[in-house]
Amino acid sequence: MRTQIGIVGAGPAGLLLSHLLHLQGIESVIIESRSRKYIEERIRAGVLEQGTVDMLVETGVGERLKREGLVHHGIELRFNRRGHRIDMYELTGGKAITIYAQHEVVKDLVNARLTAGGQIFFEAADVSVDGFNGTTPSIRFSADGKPRELTCDFIAGCDGFHGVCRPSIPSGVLTVFDRTYPFAWLGILAQAPPSSQELVYAYHERGFALLSMRSTEIGRLYVQVPPDEDIKNWPDEKIWRELQLRFAVDGDWKLTEGPILQKGITPMRSFVAEPMQYGKLYLAGDAAHIVPATGAKGLNLAAADVRLLAQAFADFYSAGGTRLLDQYSERCLRRVWKAQRFSWWMTTMLHRFEADSPFDQRRQIAELDYLTGSRAAMTSLAENYVGLPWD
Ligand code: FAD
Ligand code: DHB
Repeated sequence: MRTQIGIVGAGPAGLLLSHLLHLQGIESVIIESRSRKYIEERIRAGVLEQGTVDMLVETGVGERLKREGLVHHGIELRFNRRGHRIDMYELTGGKAITIYAQHEVVKDLVNARLTAGGQIFFEAADVSVDGFNGTTPSIRFSADGKPRELTCDFIAGCDGFHGVCRPSIPSGVLTVFDRTYPFAWLGILAQAPPSSQELVYAYHERGFALLSMRSTEIGRLYVQVPPDEDIKNWPDEKIWRELQLRFAVDGDWKLTEGPILQKGITPMRSFVAEPMQYGKLYLAGDAAHIVPATGAKGLNLAAADVRLLAQAFADFYSAGGTRLLDQYSERCLRRVWKAQRFSWWMTTMLHRFEADSPFDQRRQIAELDYLTGSRAAMTSLAENYVGLPWD
């Protein structure tokens, strides 16, 4: 088999890249280790930046997103039993975020690729990448029990944090920047109408909590837990009890409870591998970087990477230029590091750290108090949260 761009991974990065390439008349094939059902049901992120929404709509895969997505103009920061709204729309001159689950984006993109005749190999086993430091990059895998080889001009490593592409780069090439945090998030999906129309990020002495949603009937909530926590220690009643304590406010607001449909634990990590390219292998999305979830940036960064990568491939095939390909990593990393900074800042401001001293707690409260009282500080949060400009 042969194609122009061989893509490893059918997450948001791989699928969106394949879609953008198709619109430029460039052929690609996607190799994915999981089943279609698995990737279309995997519960992950939910916040789309304005630029991500605009890109999906402009490239013809935003119809359901426009219909079903929940557009939010603000978020709430809650601490000391009081809520403070940040009016992102007003502070950014009319930008917003849209709540639309990552697996819905994945469904829309899979559908678009298959409808356009795109090729995706699901449930591929023993995937490996080869030849990218020479002239003949290839992806080997087996599908339906048969070994196969896909040769291509370039490989896009869109296979997430635990994929095979990044580890296939010879040792000594990449510099890795890594930070782990002494906590994780326990996330639930609940059959309970969201108790707030907008997201609520809560700082509490018992730890962080986040109220989000997936629809007017389904809530998505998170609670800070120890990093190695076992989900078995969290029966449903305990989760609701903890959420009630952390969201409590003075006044008549009430957190509505309901049956928990799904729960899971997500570790918090900051990670960047530089450069994001080696020979004819280009990394995009979680394969190259991870952000702690507090800033809601993971999926959006993946979209920003593949936008640049698609542009660079289009330039190569139309004009033979390699300038954009050569600059790919450098251009991505400027934005990646700004998102890293923002995600780290939101995370450290809102979570309780094990080694927190009374000084640190007072400092965190002072920071939240300053932030919610300063138009300049709120504008800075708002412009990062709705998404910085692409380049
Ligand atoms: P992925 O979505 O990870 O896609 C990679 C794809 O490659 C997967 O489909 C995988 O099956 C496939 N793959 C892996 N290895 C191979 C292989 N060897 N061969 C072939 N295919 C392979 N971000 C937020 O902003 N908010 C959140 O609440 C949030 N929650 C998250 C919860 C979890 C459990 C995880 C893991 C991530 C979460 N994220 C969250 C981050 C966000 O979901 C990611 O940033 C986003 O999925 C990145 O997209 P991607 O396409 O780069 O990688
Ligand atoms: C959601 C996830 C996030 O990481 C975040 O910061 C906000 C919302 C969500 O899943 O809805």
